[in-house]
Amino acid sequence: MNYMPKSFFYDEPVPNELIPKMIITGGYTSVYTEEAPLVPIVGDWKKRYCTLAESFTPILDRVHNFEVRESDVWILTSTKCGTTWAQEMTWLILNDFDFEKAKEVDLTLRSPFLEFNGVVPNVEHDTMKHAEEMDSPRLIKSHLPIPLLPKQLWTKKPKIIYVFRNPKDAAISYFHHWRGMVGYKGTKEEFMHAYMDGYVNFNPFWPHVLDFWHLREKQNIYFTSYERMKFDLRAVVSDVCQFLNKKISFDEMEKLVDHLSFDKMKVNPACNHEKEFQSIKQAAGVEVEEFSRFVRRGVVGSHKDELPHEVIEEFDEWTDDNLKDFNLTVDEIISYHKY
Ligand code: A3P
Repeated sequence: MNYMPKSFFYDEPVPNELIPKMIITGGYTSVYTEEAPLVPIVGDWKKRYCTLAESFTPILDRVHNFEVRESDVWILTSTKCGTTWAQEMTWLILNDFDFEKAKEVDLTLRSPFLEFNGVVPNVEHDTMKHAEEMDSPRLIKSHLPIPLLPKQLWTKKPKIIYVFRNPKDAAISYFHHWRGMVGYKGTKEEFMHAYMDGYVNFNPFWPHVLDFWHLREKQNIYFTSYERMKFDLRAVVSDVCQFLNKKISFDEMEKLVDHLSFDKMKVNPACNHEKEFQSIKQAAGVEVEEFSRFVRRGVVGSHKDELPHEVIEEFDEWTDDNLKDFNLTVDEIISYHKY
C-alpha cells in the first residue's frame, strides 16, 4: 500500500494579499494526504491539509520515505513550542551528559531538522542525508503533522517526544521568528489571523496537537508542554530519563538544569540556530530586522503584553472551537504528565 501524500490541492490557498508578506522563496500550497497514515488513531485524513511553502514540495516524498530506526528519538512539535529547548535536554540525556560536546557542536548538527531543505531550498547542507549518516541513537526534529511525517514512524515505533505550548505564546514567538528570520513585512494582527486560519508553514495548529494528544498514552510517546518545562524542569528531565531508560545523578541534574536555563541557553551559540539563520536570510533575499537570538524571551504568557486584547479574545474563541468536541482545555493539555 502506498502511503504517500499524493494529492496537492490548491483549493485552500494562502490568500494572495498575504503571500508577498510571508514569502521565503515562492508561493504557498496546502498539502493534503489522501490515504490514512498507519497511525493508531481514526481521523478524516482527507481534511488534514498542511500549509507549506512550495519549496517543500520536492522534498516531501523523501521525508515520507525516510528510513526510521527503532533506536531513534524524535522531537515533534508545532513551531515555537520549545523544540530547541527539548532537543538540547534530550540530546544531553541521550549522550551521557556530554556538556563539552554540546557546547562545541551546533545543535542543528547533533539533532537535525529533518525537513529543513524544504524551509530553505538550495542549501548545500542536506539535513536528511546528514540524519541518514548519523550514528545511533539519533535525535531528529520535525514540525510536520502526522500525515506528512515518515511513514515508518508508525511501524518502527521509535521514541517520540511531543512538546505542546499555549498557541497564543507560540504564535507571538512565530511572529518574531518570521519578522526577524524571514523578513515578514505584515502586521502583527495579520500574522495572528494567518496563524489561526492555518496559513503559516506547518499549520493548522490544533490538528497537529490533537493527533499527538490522542496518542499520548502510547508507550513510545512522551507528551509534555513548554509550560511544564518552565514550571518544573526537573520533573520533565526525570520523566524523560525514565522514558528513555536513562539514569541521572543529583549532580548531573543540577548541571543540566543550569545548562538549560534561559540565561545560559540565550548566550549559548550552539543553541541559537545561527547557521540556519544565515541560510534563511540568504534565501529570503531581503533585508531582515536583526534577530539577535533564537532563544528570545522565554516566558509563559508573553502574549499578555504583546497581543491586543481583541486578538487574545479571538484566540480564545478559536481554541474553544477546536477543543470543545474533545471536552478539553489548554490547562489540561499543559498540565498533563505521563508518569
Ligand atoms: P519565545 O520566542 O517566546 O521567547 P522553538 O525552539 O520551538 O522554535 O521555540 C522557541 C521558543 O522557545 C522561544 O520562545 C525561545 O525563547 C524559547 N526557549 C528556548 N530555550 C529556552 C529556555 N532555555 N528557556 C525558556 N524558553 C526557551
